[in-house]
Amino acid sequence: MPYYRVVGEVPRKRHVQFRRPDGGLYAEELMGEEGFSSDSSLLYHRHLPTAIVKAEAVEPVVGTRLEPNLPLSPRHFRTQELDSAGDLVGGRMLLAGNGDVRLSYATSDRPSELYRNSMGDECVYVQRGRVRFESTYGVIEAGEGDYVVIPTGTIHRWVPDGRVNVLAIEASGHIRPPKRYLSQYGQFLEHAPYCERDLRAPSEPLLAEGEEVPVLVRTRGGLTRLVYRDHPFDVVGWDGCLYPYAFNIDDFEPVVKKTHAPPPVHQTFEGPGFVVCSFCPRPLDYHPEAVPIPYNHHNVDSDEFMFYVGGDYSARRGSGIDVGSVSLHPAGFTHGPQPGAVEAVIEAMANGVTTTSEMAVMVDTFRPLDLGPAALSCEDSGYAWTWAR
Ligand SMILES: [Fe+2]
Repeated sequence: MPYYRVVGEVPRKRHVQFRRPDGGLYAEELMGEEGFSSDSSLLYHRHLPTAIVKAEAVEPVVGTRLEPNLPLSPRHFRTQELDSAGDLVGGRMLLAGNGDVRLSYATSDRPSELYRNSMGDECVYVQRGRVRFESTYGVIEAGEGDYVVIPTGTIHRWVPDGRVNVLAIEASGHIRPPKRYLSQYGQFLEHAPYCERDLRAPSEPLLAEGEEVPVLVRTRGGLTRLVYRDHPFDVVGWDGCLYPYAFNIDDFEPVVKKTHAPPPVHQTFEGPGFVVCSFCPRPLDYHPEAVPIPYNHHNVDSDEFMFYVGGDYSARRGSGIDVGSVSLHPAGFTHGPQPGAVEAVIEAMANGVTTTSEMAVMVDTFRPLDLGPAALSCEDSGYAWTWAR
């Protein structure tokens, strides 16, 4: 996030004395990426952010074992059949992953404990429901269609307002808007499908009191519960270019071509080894003889994980795909519309249909995705053969 933001109270100069009303010093903390060489923010705490009183190892509640996609085949997983045992963090059910990214589904109506992912940024897509994201930077109210992007190391928790369904994209590095959307100094360019005005970030400090507050910390070595002497939500002010933010998929401005445009026009974020794309309602391609759905394609260098979040999937009629489905089309397999779909959409256009209502979140990975236990538990095993029917 290269856009400077200031929230709450900060001293006029960085690294100078900043005093509480009682005369004591606030504790300054730098959250900085890539050593001291990339985006950062300075946070001012009422208490020492270093004061921990206990550390304990934590066993994951849900299975995290990944298996290779063997025998290689396209897959269809029905997340509609999944039910989390936990909250939106501990109850994440692993669908797929590799060394770069983990993709999990969670559904819950209960608050999560405080959580810090120290392995990478997270992008949590809210498929359904409303949820309050609370963090050391403040609050973001999130709802259906929001991507909430959380920088590595941000202490936060999720407080659902009723039942919430999410797809959690956990990176092994930083998730950012694609470089090609930005000027050399980081401003969104005019051709980008969204811009600064579409991003929502905390606007005021979130202050909480408490002693001996547990924080679940995820590292490469596993999960640890660190108990902080004081509540980590004690930041009276912060400024900088590193903070969580939300972006709603409805604010994505799709690019439409005369003939079919490939997924890079839908790209929303990039992370190490993967991209995130948003397929949004839009006009159909407008060449008089256009075939306005994808041509068969073989992504020789990527696995394509598609989460269908809304709209009409008539183009996938016969595949079993519906809202809540996830398809995985791996490298090594050529995929495309179901038999009859091209003819059906051409006929629909002849009858005056000019738009598509599809809405999907796609994660394309550049290394093969292995399959998680949750995916295998809700797999539609007949999907691979639906093109040959
Ligand atoms: Fe595809």
